[in-house]
Amino acid sequence: SQVVRQRMRRSGMWARAMAILKGMEQMSETSLEKLRQLADAMNVEMHAGLASEGGSKLKMLISYVDKLPTGDERGLFYALDLGGTNFRVMRVKLGGKEQRVLKQESAEVSIPPELMVGTSDQLFDYIAEALAKFVATEGEDLHPEPDRQRELGFTFSFPVKQTSIASGTLIRWTKGFSIEDTVGQDVVAELTKAMQRKNLNMRVSALVNDTVGTLAGGRYDDQNVIAAVILGTGTNAAYVELAQAIPKWHGPLPKSGEMVINMEWGNFRSSYLPISEYDTGLDAESLNPGEQIYEKMISGMYLGEIVRRVLCRMAEEASFFGDTVPEKLKIPFILRTPEMSAMHQDTSPDLKVVAAKLKAIFGISNTSLKMRKAIVELCDIVSTRGARLAAAGIFGIVKKLGRDSGEVEKQKSVIALDGGLYEHYTKFRECMVGSLKELLGSELAESIVIEHFNDGSGIGAALLAASNCLFQYLDAE
Ligand code: GLC
Repeated sequence: SQVVRQRMRRSGMWARAMAILKGMEQMSETSLEKLRQLADAMNVEMHAGLASEGGSKLKMLISYVDKLPTGDERGLFYALDLGGTNFRVMRVKLGGKEQRVLKQESAEVSIPPELMVGTSDQLFDYIAEALAKFVATEGEDLHPEPDRQRELGFTFSFPVKQTSIASGTLIRWTKGFSIEDTVGQDVVAELTKAMQRKNLNMRVSALVNDTVGTLAGGRYDDQNVIAAVILGTGTNAAYVELAQAIPKWHGPLPKSGEMVINMEWGNFRSSYLPISEYDTGLDAESLNPGEQIYEKMISGMYLGEIVRRVLCRMAEEASFFGDTVPEKLKIPFILRTPEMSAMHQDTSPDLKVVAAKLKAIFGISNTSLKMRKAIVELCDIVSTRGARLAAAGIFGIVKKLGRDSGEVEKQKSVIALDGGLYEHYTKFRECMVGSLKELLGSELAESIVIEHFNDGSGIGAALLAASNCLFQYLDAE
């Protein structure tokens, strides 16, 4: 009878664990109708953010980029890309319309975690040092005058209130960075001071968000690019707006009549967002509570952590992993999204990858196939929700630009996509692309397409440095 009781207890626990899983599934519901409501809400917030400073949670930041690359850009330019756990330095030699990118070299440097929460000088000194090292490897073939000041496009992927194309103050950090003394400072001045400390003769000619860089890089390859979206550690979008449609812009009307807007859509919030108790918990314990709610449901920094939180609850309240809760399961952010992706996409019949990951990450062994299937299902729930929410955001931009209506029908529109989440998490990407098609309908889905621009933001920053540099086109052969 003890065996019977134990068996009954076990099946009761299993039922409870499944109830927690199903609960998450219900809270994550993203019907087409809800996605449409979200796209409309995004559209409304876009208008509000453009109308006045602080008019919306969507900052709709003015980028000061009012002309996008044409292909004529020439010369040697550097780019620096800071925005996640790594930063990249890069140099490109641009040869104009005919020759395009003549040479491109880059290096990637990881940022020690302690620097992400240290002081401003520490961070910028570290970056300037790596940049100086990279500049020192410049080949003689590349530059006609070795002593001339180099021009740099600085991709800084955080919300910045720009004061010109080459200056801007940090509004706040996102994505796990938290360095108090940088907030409110001009990040170009911070970088410039650090470069001077390293005797690096370089001038920042353009300060851009990664979305703006990707948009510029995309436009260089394809003139139909109208917007760019990053799905990586964080998520955000930029698009080309009519200057006249920006009431809060009081500057001169640009010749092009256009202005690129950095939406900072990660901070979008709406009552239509399917927020679960796990999201609420994650937000409350994050470095930036109350902020970046949309980003926390979509992007690579958070998806794995959401899964961990649900698993933790299943362990605590339904003994999912046995009588004790595995210690490592309680550690925030221990489950990274690439690991979640590997489990989600495990195609082996007995889910070997899931078993191996559970062992390696949490020290959990002896799981049944049934349990592993439930974990895959959980990854699917969380990933699907994120992907569909991102698709709704893109549809919101399409609507704002009026590209969903009959008049501009068949005008090809390209959305430039980049970021590790989009690039490496296949199921996420496919679900996002599929959901966008659902929203667009089959006819529009032929003219509005997504294209992947790998590392577009680096090249884009270099291109924008080129069109805003002091020695414009002097390098022309
Ligand atoms: C975060 C940043 C934003 C950036 C995005 C993608 O949302 O605030 O500026 O574009 O991450 O890197």
